[in-house]
Amino acid sequence: MDTKYNQIMDVIKGQVISGQLGAGNKLPSIRQLSERFSCSKNTIIRAFNELEKEHLIYSVPKSGYYVVNESQSTKSDIMNKKIDFLSAGPDKEAMPYLDFQHCLNQAIDMYKDELFNYSDQQGFYSLRLQLVKHLQDLQVFTVPERLSIVSGSQQALNLLVSMPFPNGKDNILLEQPTYFGLIDSVQLHNKTAFGIDRTRDGIDLNRLEFIFRNNQIKFFYTVPRFHNPLGYSYTNEQKKRIVELAQKYDVYIVEDDYLGSLDPNPKSDPMFAYDPSGRVIYMKSFSKIMLPGLRLGVAILPHLMVSTFLRYKFSADFNSSALSQGALEIYLKNGMFNAHIKKIKERYQRKMQLLQDACERYLPSDTSYSKPTSGFYLTVFLPELIKAKQMVHLLLQENIFVDDSTRMFLPEYRKENMLRLSVSQVEENLITQGVEQIARCITLIHEKKGVYFQSPSSLI
Ligand SMILES: Cc1ncc(COP(=O)(O)O)c(C=O)c1O
Repeated sequence: MDTKYNQIMDVIKGQVISGQLGAGNKLPSIRQLSERFSCSKNTIIRAFNELEKEHLIYSVPKSGYYVVNESQSTKSDIMNKKIDFLSAGPDKEAMPYLDFQHCLNQAIDMYKDELFNYSDQQGFYSLRLQLVKHLQDLQVFTVPERLSIVSGSQQALNLLVSMPFPNGKDNILLEQPTYFGLIDSVQLHNKTAFGIDRTRDGIDLNRLEFIFRNNQIKFFYTVPRFHNPLGYSYTNEQKKRIVELAQKYDVYIVEDDYLGSLDPNPKSDPMFAYDPSGRVIYMKSFSKIMLPGLRLGVAILPHLMVSTFLRYKFSADFNSSALSQGALEIYLKNGMFNAHIKKIKERYQRKMQLLQDACERYLPSDTSYSKPTSGFYLTVFLPELIKAKQMVHLLLQENIFVDDSTRMFLPEYRKENMLRLSVSQVEENLITQGVEQIARCITLIHEKKGVYFQSPSSLI
């Protein structure tokens, strides 16, 4: 999708905020702007249309475009815009809606029969073939028979929590903190879960060995790259060591590589690549890199687990959406997917860098933060006395949305001073402003020693 029109919108908005373009002022013509920005007239028209939708400008037939009269309120609207570090969906501006719409339309034609019937419970074979090819780019070499298409990776996780494993063990080991969807699943199924601290340096491998040896672990659930919520990634050496220990103690690993496609480091391997024995179950989601509404993910299981997994899957939903599968297959086949990944890789890397630059510049010295190279999430570690809950509450009053990571821990590991920031749905030009506000909030709570019931602006 063309993002040039966004840049043009930002320039015009900037001119309105700075007062360069006042109420009632006429904007330069479409032709002038297309020359100035070296783009097509259509791009300018699109930017104008979007600005009209936002009620920033209006058109006068046969005359041109003008800045709306309420420039003061326009200005404060922009200043008070929602800054959303909370939403975990993908960046809307980076989504290939139009391209994907073509694929969906084609899929309705091509897979009519599958829409009138229940389809393969393991997922379309033709899609699995495409995925096998695609996964090779991630150093995941496998065969279609080991792939199961699932209705989002959350479904696969939930099934893995509930189903029996060949090692006959029943307990689950989780990094602390971890993706809260798995904690929920473990609790709903009344499974016993153990935790192991994940830090900037990885996990304590001696501790991991101790837990593997003594606690009847069925599987270790890990998010090796761009961890949710921490943002950390393991080194290849750490991944190798974890796989070796799993092999030694007959423990399975559920490797949730939900953002692996965004990794800017071409040398970073998935754990799956180090697995000689089929103990690593690899999972990929299409929610963050494509659309969560598709409800598509893929799980790669060892041969001996496929039939049990499919039985559990069949009892959950028969099969995953035929329309989504068909469209994704077409999207992969015609090369659109690779082009899209290339584009979003740059975008998320840039946004994450902006977020870190802002953290570096504005957060107080007693506040630290993780430094992911890309992905969605960065964690801010607040000074001990400040609770994330307080910050969420305060920032909400400033129209800034952030997440408290407390629920991402098992109860006995809980820490209450971590804020999760998701960069995906924050507009680039608001990232710095958002972090500045977060920093101001920390300072205020500090100064007031826990008196946090007033909004930061009223305290200033
Ligand atoms: C780490 C991780 N794994 C899995 C999921 C589930 O994704 P989905 O079921 O949409 O594929 C999420 C969703 O946020 C996630 O953050």
